[in-house]
Amino acid sequence: MRIFSGIRPSGELHIGNYLGAIKQWIELQEKEECVFCIADLHATTTPYQPNQLSKAVFATAVTYISAGLDPEKCILFVQSKVKEHTELTWLLGTITPVGDLKRMTQFKEKSKEHPQYVNAGLLNYPLLMASDILLYQTDLVPVGKDQSQHVELTREIARRFNKKFGETFKIPKVLLSKGEKIMSLKNPTKKMSKTDNPQTYIGLFDKPEAIKKKIYSAKTDSEKEIKFDVKRKPGISNLLAIYSLFSGFPIKEIEKEFKEKGYQVFKEKLAQLLIEKLEPFRRKKKELELHPDYLEKVLEDGRKRAQAIAQQTMEKVRKKMGLF
Ligand code: AMP
Ligand code: TRP
Repeated sequence: MRIFSGIRPSGELHIGNYLGAIKQWIELQEKEECVFCIADLHATTTPYQPNQLSKAVFATAVTYISAGLDPEKCILFVQSKVKEHTELTWLLGTITPVGDLKRMTQFKEKSKEHPQYVNAGLLNYPLLMASDILLYQTDLVPVGKDQSQHVELTREIARRFNKKFGETFKIPKVLLSKGEKIMSLKNPTKKMSKTDNPQTYIGLFDKPEAIKKKIYSAKTDSEKEIKFDVKRKPGISNLLAIYSLFSGFPIKEIEKEFKEKGYQVFKEKLAQLLIEKLEPFRRKKKELELHPDYLEKVLEDGRKRAQAIAQQTMEKVRKKMGLF
């Protein structure tokens, strides 16, 4: 099966992103054919700084490889380097009603957020995303809930194209991130989010001291019992979930192990576990940052492999549409 997903070039990620999304990708690359693109063209649809974009693209590649994406096991490339994406975007636009694009939740939200920047690129965002997906004859698209509407639209576009011009695209399916929702350390009824204060999340590259400090001051409750009960004890439940996901032990076993031990001992062990599990990420990141040439080679190699697939699909598309 072929898997495709896109990564918005953004800065630092936290353990919520890791447990909720990246970890699943890392598991997928072991058994399926995975293609991941850093979606720099998508990033130009909202206000951005041109002189920062390529830095963000590299930083994103570093982040994902450090967290476990293996360029030997998956294709990792930069969207703007494979021109077939923009070509197909134009062509898909000619069979997509404007109304379908205007009703997308993300378009409505971003238009409200940046009223001075409601550009046609923002409206066409889902067409570019559909091109990303369809060029690779994708079976499954792992995304968070917020992006599933775009994958649904991609399916409609593919069906419409196949009906109008003949069988060309595989109809992809969405694979919703199954990872648990990780909550803020300071307000455990709210999702851990990178736009919040850094004290509320553990960054993937946080140093041991920072991890300790954040876990020790994570919000719990005035009881003593280490028990998973999201309604009554959201703070402890969130920490138990994190412990379980990083250690691989079921929550029940962890509850048993820490029975009568108190919150402080539990937090110390959790901090130790996180320091141990995140240490390879920091090490890998340092190593990659010392070798920018290696990273360039990885992305160039990814581009070649991606483009070889994209070109095949484009050839079919051009033929079907009478453009040869
Ligand atoms: P975002 O940072 O919101 O663009 O999300 C990137 C990916 O990480 C999406 O697949 C989200 O579902 C996932 N994600 C973000 N925050 C969390 C969280 N607190 N818990 C679990 N998954 C998350
Ligand atoms: N739009 C996605 C997001 O904001 C990123 C993305 C770009 C993507 N192209 C994609 C996701 C193709 C899945 C498939 O997160």
